[in-house]
Amino acid sequence: MSDFDLIPRSQTSADAALAPPLARAAERVAAPAPLPRAAVELTVVIPSYCERDNIAELFRRLDAALDGVAWEAVVVDDDSPDGTAELAKSIGRRDPRLRCIRRVGRRGLSGAVIEGMLSSSAPVVAVIDADLQHDETLLPNMLKEIRAGADIAIASRYAEGGSATEGFSGIRRWGSEMATKLARRLMGVSVTDPMSGFFMLRREIVEAHAGDLSNQGYKLLADLLWSAGRDKRIVELTYRFRARQHGESKLDALVTLDYLGLIFSKLLGGALPVRFLMFAAVGASGVAVHLMMLQFGLGHLGLAFGWAQALAVITAMTWNFVLNNRLTYRDARLTGWGFMTGLIKFYLACSIGSIGNVGVASWIYSFHATAWLAGLTGAVMGAVFNYAVSSALIWKK
Ligand code: GDD
Ligand code: MN
Repeated sequence: MSDFDLIPRSQTSADAALAPPLARAAERVAAPAPLPRAAVELTVVIPSYCERDNIAELFRRLDAALDGVAWEAVVVDDDSPDGTAELAKSIGRRDPRLRCIRRVGRRGLSGAVIEGMLSSSAPVVAVIDADLQHDETLLPNMLKEIRAGADIAIASRYAEGGSATEGFSGIRRWGSEMATKLARRLMGVSVTDPMSGFFMLRREIVEAHAGDLSNQGYKLLADLLWSAGRDKRIVELTYRFRARQHGESKLDALVTLDYLGLIFSKLLGGALPVRFLMFAAVGASGVAVHLMMLQFGLGHLGLAFGWAQALAVITAMTWNFVLNNRLTYRDARLTGWGFMTGLIKFYLACSIGSIGNVGVASWIYSFHATAWLAGLTGAVMGAVFNYAVSSALIWKK
């Protein structure tokens, strides 16, 4: 028995107590069978953060563009302070084709999109930005390609005919071009815009690879192509990337580094999370800063070694903190007072980490007198400790 059968039966037995038999019979004939809503073919996922001014307009445009298609949209909002989720839900009360998932205490474009796609039961899923920069009139053509047998349809800003110049800063464009070349080289997929945030695919692909995808960052398509792209039929369509009208971009030039992190993580077989790799890369840059500062303290400031070393340590820790705040933990970025208390916690964590570092290194050195091995193990221990404390206590979301 399906769920739909249950509804009229219980209604009929409730009616039995109230209505005379004839009326009841007539009603039974006249009562319309509850119609299940037409099965949805396409779910359009709309990740949003502070897009209140764009949601209603986007929904209206989707409605116009997808005329004749059984579609729904799901806004996945990371608890935007501007009330985007509330607005989406109020539209959804009037029109059930718009659903909204409000995520609390989490940030991240990729994670939001994956969650939206996994909430769908339609055979086809798509993602489009909430900010009207993507050309929604491309959706029917993308769907046509999927119906005709494509697995993934990518709306590309770079293929011939497309345009990337309007919505992008120069350095972002350079980063994207580099990402494209790397994707071709390393993933063996030759798509012109692997960083596109506008694409459509069969839901089964997402379901099959959901566990391998990184929740962090802005590179879901590249991630999907890497995990699942090799034997898939990929089609590219081109469009003009529009300029933003309301609100502002949450991305900056540093997303390219995020993408490089993904590539390294994948090259290592996914053994280390992207975030840890970034944390380690920031730490390595901190070593360079430390050495430069030490040199400066000794040579230019004429400090005694102990003082020069102390100055170098504090500079390097501050450098690491600022960079991690900007890059590694961009989705939990600390500002104002939180920045100051975070910095103090970071100094403390690093101090404890370095005590552990020296302890472990000395212990290993005591029975295995290879200095570099003992030193390296100590440094790795220290880094893992700092990372754990940073993730759990400083940039917790
Ligand atoms: N839920 C959620 N959580 N949504 C987010 C988050 C987040 O942390 N950050 C951004 N978004 C939403 C925005 O509200 C917007 O709808 C969409 O994701 C894209 O964000 P923008 O901040 O507008 O990105 P952009 O236009 O600078 O970046 C473009 O290029 C990227 C890659 O190069 C877009 O096309 C992206 O989709 C693309 O990944
Ligand atoms: Mn945008």
